[in-house]
Amino acid sequence: MAAQSEIQSRFPVSPASRCGGHIVVRQLRGSEESACDAFFGQLHWYDVRWRFGGPRTSGGCLLPRREGFCQSLAFAASSEAGDILGIINVEYLDADTAEVALIVRSDLKHQGIGALLLSHVMNWSRTSGLKWLTGHVMTDNKAMLRLALAAGFICVGGDQALVELNWPIDTAA
Ligand SMILES: CC(C)(COP(=O)(O)OP(=O)(O)OC[C@H]1O[C@@H](n2cnc3c(N)ncnc32)[C@H](O)[C@@H]1OP(=O)(O)O)[C@@H](O)C(=O)NCCC(=O)NCCS
Repeated sequence: MAAQSEIQSRFPVSPASRCGGHIVVRQLRGSEESACDAFFGQLHWYDVRWRFGGPRTSGGCLLPRREGFCQSLAFAASSEAGDILGIINVEYLDADTAEVALIVRSDLKHQGIGALLLSHVMNWSRTSGLKWLTGHVMTDNKAMLRLALAAGFICVGGDQALVELNWPIDTAA
């Protein structure tokens, strides 16, 4: 299990970026539909497929939602100018477990933004009351698999299409 300091040392704290300046990670509000649409408009279709397993038509699918028992949160990496550079969604599956999934603006991949978002949620989860983070990644999504495994997630199952990964949240770290 990775302690908090280990998680931080595994990831670049300040992603080297062409987005310029400081990047902040903040909670995304359900009302930020137009900002999400602007972000969605800068995604390649194949990145949307990696994230959702199929096509989507607008950024609304990245917003947090609350429908009946279904509750989710989202965090956005934002530039100083307020542009959304990446989004990580956290969906509660039950009282102990939440599923995470992320996407980075297509022209800004491989610069550490995904690692920044994932480490933020791993650190946030320590005080969330959750016991597990889980994720499902397509078997051919090598970048996401490398990122999750480097962060400390463990493969616990899957099939020909998807790998299931878990991270037991270490609240003592
Ligand atoms: C997968 C995705 C979110 C990663 O975001 P990113 O900002 O490009 O990723 P990062 O730059 O932070 O880190 C990923 C890279 O750093 C590497 N990395 C991160 N931490 C590392 C470590 N400790 N040791 C070694 N490598 C590490 C990863 O292996 C990966 O390498 P690559 O850039 O050569 O592929 C992004 O590519 C994306 O949006 N893809 C489309 C949507 C998607 O696949 N979502 C996942 C659905 S679950």
